[in-house]
Amino acid sequence: MTAQLNPRGDVAVLVPAAGAGVRLGPGAPKALRLLGGEPLLVHAVRRVAAAPSVHTIVVAAPANGVTAVRELLAPVAPVTVVPGGAERQASVAAALAAVPPGPWIVLVHDAARALTPPELVESVASAVRSGDDAVIPVLPVVDTIKEVGAAEIVLGTVDRAALRAVQTPQGFRRSVLTAAHAAAGDPLTDDAGLVEKQGVPVRCVPGSEYALKITRPFDLALAEHLLATGR
Ligand code: CTP
Ligand code: MG
Repeated sequence: MTAQLNPRGDVAVLVPAAGAGVRLGPGAPKALRLLGGEPLLVHAVRRVAAAPSVHTIVVAAPANGVTAVRELLAPVAPVTVVPGGAERQASVAAALAAVPPGPWIVLVHDAARALTPPELVESVASAVRSGDDAVIPVLPVVDTIKEVGAAEIVLGTVDRAALRAVQTPQGFRRSVLTAAHAAAGDPLTDDAGLVEKQGVPVRCVPGSEYALKITRPFDLALAEHLLATGR
């Protein structure tokens, strides 16, 4: 039995949450680190569950933490919890395999983007519903970007105007994501990358600064501030 949110929703959200959080420093797996006294994963799932189109949420938890994550999320939202894998891509594949028949839009959303507003979930889902096979939320790149070679010598400057920083949730027509994962080779850091390799066009929509990925200690401090000021 798979838990459901809105039975009339057409969206399944996969939440990879099985990472260690090495860049955040020593401690619990990142999705279980606290932000304002609650784990990052609780914040992320609560916001996803608040998006009205969401039918199903599947979380990929650290393999030794499935029962604990199930108990943690029970009071937050009805979710299915599966063990994640050694790479993010394997965690997403495990969650995808647990999506029940029905939802034809699948979103993949990092637990580490704990403060992502429900409106971003809706806007990505809505772009897929309108006919795009693959949709990613993006922000313009603000820094100048340089390619650097051996011994930290600059090789060149990349044209920033053509660059975008990519966030999650990334949205897909279910069959497109399933085919991309079935054909996947070496692990990539996002799902749109797999879909691109299949030659499927990927549409960019505006992202949100609040969907920042909590990666390093500075990001966690920033997220604490954002939460304390009403996010
Ligand atoms: N993730 C996962 N399974 C893995 C690795 C990552 O489900 N084997 C998830 C993380 O839990 C996170 C998201 O993928 O929600 C994005 O990954 P990242 O920010 O890199 O998190 P970690 O891998 O935990 O962090 P680090 O790379 O610093 O160890
Ligand atoms: Mg990682």
